[in-house]
Amino acid sequence: MNIALIGFMGVGKTTVSRALSRLSGRREVDVDRWIVKKEGRPISEIFAADGEDAFRDIETAAIRELCGGSVRGGGVILSCGGGAVLRPENVEVLKKNGVIVLLTARPETVLGRVGDGTSRPALGGQVTIPHITELMEKRRPAYEAAADLTVATDGRPPEEIAEEILRMAGAAEFAVRPGKA
Ligand code: S3P
Repeated sequence: MNIALIGFMGVGKTTVSRALSRLSGRREVDVDRWIVKKEGRPISEIFAADGEDAFRDIETAAIRELCGGSVRGGGVILSCGGGAVLRPENVEVLKKNGVIVLLTARPETVLGRVGDGTSRPALGGQVTIPHITELMEKRRPAYEAAADLTVATDGRPPEEIAEEILRMAGAAEFAVRPGKA
């Protein structure tokens, strides 16, 4: 079974998934990075050239492929893009293949983590607390509906969050195996 991390941009999915990988010995796959490699261009370019809908189609295909066994060994840590669970079909695939963990953070925390927002086209260049808050609230129902577990990340080190997730996920197969990462 996979552990899929979901949540808004800048909540810490990438850093927590790396910590989870270190602690559990499971491979970590970042869906966005996988898309960039496969497409041979950055996500901001996919948005600019082909539009958000085209990116979402690519994202859905990527999630299907990654959950369908293209990752050798199975049982991976899957770090999903912030909009991945806006499509119910993606949630269905992620749920069928593992546990979905929602990471949350305050808008102020997100603002501090997304920099100038140039690599986050979904923010549309509006890197402000009101805009982040608005988009976060709009997405909250989809995030909460998809989540099996929810963990707040504000002010906490990734290792501590990862330990909490592993404890909560509780599956023996994700037990700590030092040195196997
Ligand atoms: C998006 C989040 C990004 C990336 C894309 C769209 C979103 O991932 O998938 O730019 O709609 O929230 P991160 O959450 O890793 O920044």
